[in-house]
Amino acid sequence: FHQKECQITEKLFKYKDCVFPLGFVTPEYIDSLQTFEIRDSDVFLVTYPKSGTIWTQQIIISICELDGGLNEYPYNYQQMAWLEYEMKEEDYSLRPSPRLFSSHLPPHLMPLGLKDKKSKIVYVMRNPKDNIVSHFHFSQSFSPWDTPKSFEDFLEQYLAGNVGGSSWFDHIRAWYLNRDQYNILFLTYEDMILDLKGVVTKICRFLGKNLSDEGIDQVVEKATFRNMKKDSKANYESFRRDLFSGDFMRKGRIGDWKNMFTVAQSERVDRMLQEKLGDTGLKFIWE
Ligand code: A3P
Repeated sequence: FHQKECQITEKLFKYKDCVFPLGFVTPEYIDSLQTFEIRDSDVFLVTYPKSGTIWTQQIIISICELDGGLNEYPYNYQQMAWLEYEMKEEDYSLRPSPRLFSSHLPPHLMPLGLKDKKSKIVYVMRNPKDNIVSHFHFSQSFSPWDTPKSFEDFLEQYLAGNVGGSSWFDHIRAWYLNRDQYNILFLTYEDMILDLKGVVTKICRFLGKNLSDEGIDQVVEKATFRNMKKDSKANYESFRRDLFSGDFMRKGRIGDWKNMFTVAQSERVDRMLQEKLGDTGLKFIWE
């Protein structure tokens, strides 16, 4: 691994078209994930960063807890371990089933065993403008990533794919176009905002869990922004303060991009969206 050749910014390196923070993961480790052993009962949550990951973690964990048989962990980030980051501290092959994982990886770097289609993947995407704003705020207090100089500068880096999580456009495109290879449920952050109960019910069905209507309501209650914000198990407040000093539960809305974007910046994203994803037919909700 020639760090100099792979390094793209002060803190990030690119490996196999994906961007990682220096010092937190190695190319060898990323390669080793190809043969990571998958169990039929595994559930993976895959997102581009800042798309509603911790929200969906809370939903999946609450569903599995109510269903029974889930091993308890103090925090959601331990229960739903990060595939590409925490392996050095724990051997996941020793975890009892069912195992829950989270990942920001593109499909070509995921364990090949997922293509057997027995284990499940929940994929959540968010409209790129709100994603950019959330990413921008997060990057200001997340030390493994570069600190943005300004919103304008950050937008350039984001559109070039030189930020944590790589290119949003590539991530969405690759997962969406390769969806037939996986047992995957596609969701959007906006659907979760507009109809949380509907999405919880969908996830429940996808996971093959039979919760009663009260059970579903309980999960919805635990996943509201207000309740999650004060839920120390779910809100990531105890997550590595040395790495992140901000708030994961920031605003939790659709349309915050309107407070940040100029008309020209917004049109630029529209053009790029058309250019990169126009042929997929994907539509996003902006407000
Ligand atoms: P904002 O920064 O726009 O507020 P991730 O978990 O992928 O890092 O995404 C973080 C984003 O999801 C943040 O967006 C955060 O506020 C939002 N979020 C987390 N939990 C939420 C909830 N229960 N309801 C609505 N939004 C939520």
